[in-house]
Amino acid sequence: MKRVSFAEFGGPEVLRLEEAEEPHAGPGQVRVLVRAAGVNPVDWRIREGQVLGAHPTVLPAGVGIDAAGVVDEVGAGVRGVEPGDHVFGEGRDTYAEFAVLTAWARMPEGLGFEEAAGYPSVVETAVRLLRESGVERGQTLLVSGASGGVGSALLQLARERGVRVIGTAGAANQGYLRGLGALATTYGAGWVERVRRLGPVDAALDLAGSGVVREMIELTGDPGRVISIADLGAPGLGARFSGVAGSVPDALAEAADLIARGRLHIPVEKSYPLTDAAAAHADSHAGHTRGRRVIVI
Ligand SMILES: NC(=O)c1ccc[n+]([C@@H]2O[C@H](COP(=O)([O-])OP(=O)(O)OC[C@H]3O[C@@H](n4cnc5c(N)ncnc54)[C@H](OP(=O)(O)O)[C@@H]3O)[C@@H](O)[C@H]2O)c1
Repeated sequence: MKRVSFAEFGGPEVLRLEEAEEPHAGPGQVRVLVRAAGVNPVDWRIREGQVLGAHPTVLPAGVGIDAAGVVDEVGAGVRGVEPGDHVFGEGRDTYAEFAVLTAWARMPEGLGFEEAAGYPSVVETAVRLLRESGVERGQTLLVSGASGGVGSALLQLARERGVRVIGTAGAANQGYLRGLGALATTYGAGWVERVRRLGPVDAALDLAGSGVVREMIELTGDPGRVISIADLGAPGLGARFSGVAGSVPDALAEAADLIARGRLHIPVEKSYPLTDAAAAHADSHAGHTRGRRVIVI
């Protein structure tokens, strides 16, 4: 089969399209014929050799954690899914013709593979953050970097839980945030005052890692109410860092249900063929994705 891989850590130019052995589903796993793979910042962080603690990487390595496709092998002990089923989920080396998934849900009727591939890890992250933040119905959550993949999922899941959101994004994405049910303002000079004018904040999430944790502590009045997923310096300020703590098993099923009911939709900003994985990484690295980027196989 064809897969994207890299044999040395480095920039997008280290990515290669190669012939590789097909993977097979082990116990508790399924194998899919991949139709689309989601592009996540962690994909290029691993390629750069940035996050080896959380993602030990043996070279040459494949790329990608999210996929949507057609099940073609079911591992021992797996129930409720059969060859031919359309699923979306998380696994490894998903920029490839075949990939093994460790967590998945059946795709809702009418959802295309391209859009489906964008959901798994951002939904899992958003559900995890909403739980860890402890925010309840009627409370207000501040979200910095709200227009990207995680933010797009988070705003819609917060709306389902009756949590009010104040989101920050670039000037071009203010209408996008409002369309997802949030109050919106821009990041950059004066942002703390602009947020204050929108009302008090019960908890805050830093999704962009743009050095705002200190101000978020000021706005919430308590470091214990601030979580970052992108700033490793957060614990040094008394706030929390939320890492990839494994899949939240019910997140994908919740996403499938909300998508089926028209309550969750994350747009695909751009899709790329497998041969353009390097361009997808460069575009993701530029840091201004609205919604998701996806590789279509
Ligand atoms: N620890 C974990 O569990 C975990 C899980 C998932 C992701 N992550 C990390 O979280 C980050 C976000 O992931 P993602 O998938 O949402 O990324 P993404 O889709 O690439 O989105 C990045 C967003 O950051 C915004 N942004 C850029 N500069 C900003 C600034 N100075 N202030 C505020 N926002 C800014 C952009 O908004 P505009 O375009 O509007 O400027 C864009 O919407 C990445 O660093 C990723 O590695 C961590």
